[in-house]
Amino acid sequence: DASTKIKVRQAVEHRGKRVRVFGWVHRLRQQGGMTFVILRDGTGYLQCVLSGRLSQTYDALTLTLESTVQITGVINQLPEGKTAPDGHELTADWFSVVGKAPGGDDAFLNKVNEDADPSTLADARHLVIRGENASAVLKVRAALLSSFRESYANLGLLEVTPPCMVQTQVEGGSTLFGFDYYGQEAYLTQSSQLYLETCLPSLGDVFCVQESFRAEKSHTRRHLSEYTHVEAELAFLTFQDLLEHIEELICQTIDRVLADPKIKELIDFLWGGNGKFEAPSRPFMRMDYRDAIQWLNEHGITRPGEDGVDGPHVVGDDIAEAAERKMTDMIGRPIFLINFPKEIKSFYMSRIPGDEGYTESVDLLMPNVGEIVGGSMRMNDLDELLAAYKTEGISPDPYFWYTDQRKYGTCPHGGYGLGLERLLAWLLNRYTVRECSLYPRWTGRCTP
Ligand code: 4AD
Ligand code: MG
Repeated sequence: DASTKIKVRQAVEHRGKRVRVFGWVHRLRQQGGMTFVILRDGTGYLQCVLSGRLSQTYDALTLTLESTVQITGVINQLPEGKTAPDGHELTADWFSVVGKAPGGDDAFLNKVNEDADPSTLADARHLVIRGENASAVLKVRAALLSSFRESYANLGLLEVTPPCMVQTQVEGGSTLFGFDYYGQEAYLTQSSQLYLETCLPSLGDVFCVQESFRAEKSHTRRHLSEYTHVEAELAFLTFQDLLEHIEELICQTIDRVLADPKIKELIDFLWGGNGKFEAPSRPFMRMDYRDAIQWLNEHGITRPGEDGVDGPHVVGDDIAEAAERKMTDMIGRPIFLINFPKEIKSFYMSRIPGDEGYTESVDLLMPNVGEIVGGSMRMNDLDELLAAYKTEGISPDPYFWYTDQRKYGTCPHGGYGLGLERLLAWLLNRYTVRECSLYPRWTGRCTP
C-alpha cells in the first residue's frame, strides 16, 4: 500500500490515510501485548500503536526512549473516552529503528530529570531542549520573533543587520567583551543602536534582531552574557510618540502570538493553566522616575546603604533590580518608568528641555522580570554630543561616524532595545531568562 511521508503536525489532515512518519521515541509503554510510542518530531507528538506480531519483534521489545524510528500505518481518530495527543493515533503496520539510543541506566532522562541540579541540567542543555517545557519555550520564542517582524512591517520599519564586531561602546566600558581584531582592540557589540541611528537618513525607521554581549559581573536571574536584542530607531518623532510606538509594538506583537491557537496552548501549558497569562492593556502606566522614588519609600521598599544598613531611596539612585521588581510586582502591570537623571543613564540620551538634569528616557517594566526595554530620545546637537563624550571620558575619535549624523542633517530621533529573553520570561512565567535562551551564556558558562 502506498503511504504519504508526513510530519506529525500534518496528521490531522491525514486521518483515515496511510502515512509514514519519522521521529524520536518521546514516551514508551508496553501494555497488554501492545507497544505504545509517543513519537516526537519537533512539529508535534503522535501516539503510535504497535500490536500483534509487530510488537513482539526484537526491535519493538528492545526499543528505547529517544531512539529514532520510522513508522507506517493509518491515522485513526480515537473514540470518545480514549485520549492521545490531538485525539488520534497511528495504527502501525510496519516500523523500523533508524538510530538506537542507549536505554537503561544510560537513558539521558535519568540524568536530566527535573530534580537534577542546575549545573547538570546546564551541561545537558542539548538534551534538555528535547523536553516538553524547554521545547515549548523555544517554539513560542520562534513565534514571538516572527510576530515582531510582522509588527515592524505593519509599522513601516525596515530590518537591517548591523555588525557584531565593533570598536565603540554604547552602554559603558565595564560590560565590554574585548578581543583582538587583527592586532587592534575590538569588542562584541553591546547594542546596535549607534548603527541603527546611521540608517535613518538612508532607510528611514529601522529595526534589527541581533545578539548583544555584556560582560555582566552580576549573577542574577535576568542577566545573560549574550542575549537576543530587538532594537529600533525612529526619526522625526517626540518622546511621547516613542512611548506610544513601544506600547503599540508590544501589544500588537503579543496579541498576534495569542491569536495562534497552537501557540496559545503552549503558553497556557507553561503557565500551568488556561488563561493565567494576562495580555497587557493599553495605555501602559507612565511613572516619572522621581515619583517612583517616592512610591518606593511610601511602600517601605528600601535600598542597601553603604554602611550595610538598608535605608530609603533618594533621588539620584539607580533603582536596583530587587526594588524595581518588587514595585512592578505590586503594581502588577506594565510600567513605563520615564525621565531618569542624566548621571545614571547613557551619554547619548537627550535632556528634558527646561529640566536638564533629567533625560528623555524610558524603561519598560514588567511583572516578574522588571526592565525589559530601555530606550530614549537621542542628543541631536553636535556640540552637546561632543561635550557628552568628554563627560563620559571616551575618546570621540572612534565615534566619528556616529558624530557625523549630527553634522550632515541632524534630526530629532529616538529608539530602544528590548531583551527578547526577558520578554519571554514575563510571557511564559519563567523564573530566569536562562530558560528562554537556546544555549544561554552567563558568567562561567560558554558551553554547550
Ligand atoms: O537598557 P539597555 O542597556 O539599552 C541599550 O542597550 C540601548 N542602547 C538600546 C537602544 O536604545 N537601542 O538594554 C536594552 C535591553 C534591556 O532593557 C534588557 O531587556 C536587555 O536589553 N538586556 C539584557 N538582557 C539579558 N541579559 C543582559 N545582560 C541584558 N542587558 C540588557
Ligand atoms: Mg537599561
